[in-house]
Amino acid sequence: MMPNIIPNSPNVSAADTTSVDVLIVGAGFSGLGMGIKLREAGMNSFLIIEKSSDIGGTWWENRYPGCACDIPSHLYSFSFEPCADWTRMYPGQQEIHDYLKRCVERNLLAPHLRLNTAFKDAAWDESASLWRVTTAGGTRINARVLISGMGALHVPSFPSIPGRDRFAGPSFHSSAWNYDVDLEGKRVAVIGTGASAIQFVPQIAPRVGKLHLFQRTPAWILPRMDFPLSEKWRNRFRRFPPLRWALRQALFWRQEFRVFAFIGNQTLRKFFEKFGRAHLARQVPDPKLQAALAPNYQLGCKRILVSDDFYPSLNRPNVELVTGSIQEIREHSIVTQDGAERPVDVLIYGTGFRATEPLIGSRIVGRSGVEIHDAWQKRMTAYLGITVNDFPNFFILLGPNTGLGHNSVVLMIEAQVRYVMDCLKLMKSRDQRVMEVRPEVQQGFVEGIYSRMGRTVWLSGGCHSWYQDQKTGEITTLWPGSVVSYIRRTSSVSPSDYQFAP
Ligand SMILES: Cc1cc2nc3c(=O)[nH]c(=O)nc-3n(C[C@H](O)[C@H](O)[C@H](O)COP(=O)(O)OP(=O)(O)OC[C@H]3O[C@@H](n4cnc5c(N)ncnc54)[C@H](O)[C@@H]3O)c2cc1C
Ligand SMILES: NC(=O)c1ccc[n+]([C@@H]2O[C@H](COP(=O)([O-])OP(=O)(O)OC[C@H]3O[C@@H](n4cnc5c(N)ncnc54)[C@H](OP(=O)(O)O)[C@@H]3O)[C@@H](O)[C@H]2O)c1
Repeated sequence: MMPNIIPNSPNVSAADTTSVDVLIVGAGFSGLGMGIKLREAGMNSFLIIEKSSDIGGTWWENRYPGCACDIPSHLYSFSFEPCADWTRMYPGQQEIHDYLKRCVERNLLAPHLRLNTAFKDAAWDESASLWRVTTAGGTRINARVLISGMGALHVPSFPSIPGRDRFAGPSFHSSAWNYDVDLEGKRVAVIGTGASAIQFVPQIAPRVGKLHLFQRTPAWILPRMDFPLSEKWRNRFRRFPPLRWALRQALFWRQEFRVFAFIGNQTLRKFFEKFGRAHLARQVPDPKLQAALAPNYQLGCKRILVSDDFYPSLNRPNVELVTGSIQEIREHSIVTQDGAERPVDVLIYGTGFRATEPLIGSRIVGRSGVEIHDAWQKRMTAYLGITVNDFPNFFILLGPNTGLGHNSVVLMIEAQVRYVMDCLKLMKSRDQRVMEVRPEVQQGFVEGIYSRMGRTVWLSGGCHSWYQDQKTGEITTLWPGSVVSYIRRTSSVSPSDYQFAP
């Protein structure tokens, strides 16, 4: 583990007002990537505020046993901060967190960071042409430019099962793992079989007395094929950087071509489905268990999972896969619809995040006095997923419709950081203080996105997923295309897309 290199944040007292050119909210991949590029361009008047006690975002919050990335390490990292030292093909949480800490250290970001500082609200002051921001602690910050790197997967989603609050034993969400709770020999219930659960279930199964795993929808799971990267290879990567670059390219294209299975290529999708079924059949010999784990929707409709140890962990005699839906949670048990009651000592939620409710808990009021959630009442939208009409000088990283189901989102973040930097440079070169996307440009972009969305497996694949808006069913989270197509779209800023003000 890396030692803590971020000094105690020099917190501004609540009464003070700080002024900066750029305020970044969130210190995950997005916020840190943005900070690195600002520093590189010599734009040093910026702050990164972060509500947690450490940097890393996803990779600090999620510390459950077995937490790891499902994109290879050499691709799930910044192209401008390459690392030859990854110890595995797929990096674990600790290794990614250490990598991000090294990024902070190497790029001298610590003086710009304010940890334990939650963004609360921002209002655009038209006469002063700046954002007036307040933090949860009452600190006021004036910023000409506001950048959200708040992420989409950090507010836990808990199921509304009757009696949930009555449970008397310890219970926690995967993203807030409670290591004080000793699971040794206990009767443990896990709700959910998504990307998080399939990672921690194999880790805890050998330790617990009994594990009841409550599955609502079986997932498509493909082989992970993780392996250690030996010192010999790490040395080669250090000595011949082009070798590292070539590996990154190969991994990129391997991931990238999968998108065709999502946006209409049935042959490719069926090929992956066959692969998934064979993986299940190979790892789960019991036909009844196999049938219970077989997905009944098209591959890719929900996030595809990768694991080599999840299925085998279900073959253990102390693990029970429960497919009946939960009727009620009691003080010391869980009751399913068929009336069966299972005694439980510890309850773990692997139930995901509130991904389609962006900027939860914060208020951002635009030029005409409308709050962003009201502006997004019908659906959340942003031009290129980045800029929003009526919200001048506001940029979102990993905003609406820019998530991915097939490749590393760090690639999307990099494209967006580049785009935002180009916007800032454009304002400077034109001697303008303010830029705002034209409404018709945003509208045209959104129409294009939704016309392409109809063909995707996310809408036609016969499932319900967190990619979809819970009210409308629309896909508001994913980019309906390849990473290459997104990089092309964001490769330059077209001044005619924006209105400027001095
Ligand atoms: C367990 C897990 C595994 C994942 N694995 C993969 C993977 O394999 N491949 C992949 O491509 N993606 C994966 N993802 C998605 C992952 O979230 C992104 O890859 C990436 O980490 C997003 O970075 P980010 O900086 O945009 O958001 P985050 O990492 O979520 O960071 C956002 C930061 O903003 C802070 N913040 C939020 N609101 C406020 C506020 N009001 N005030 C101050 N700070 C605030 C948060 O505390 C957080 O630190 C995974 C997600 C999870 C949860
Ligand atoms: N290594 C990785 O790549 C990795 C690891 C972890 C997380 N992630 C990212 O984070 C996202 C979230 O992952 P996650 O596993 O935390 O959440 P998730 O994928 O949203 O999975 C949540 C699980 O909880 C179940 N669930 C929700 N409400 C339920 C209820 N009332 N009763 C029974 N089951 C219920 C869901 O079932 P249904 O399917 O029926 O809704 C699903 O199985 C992933 O999609 C991925 O993008 C990635």
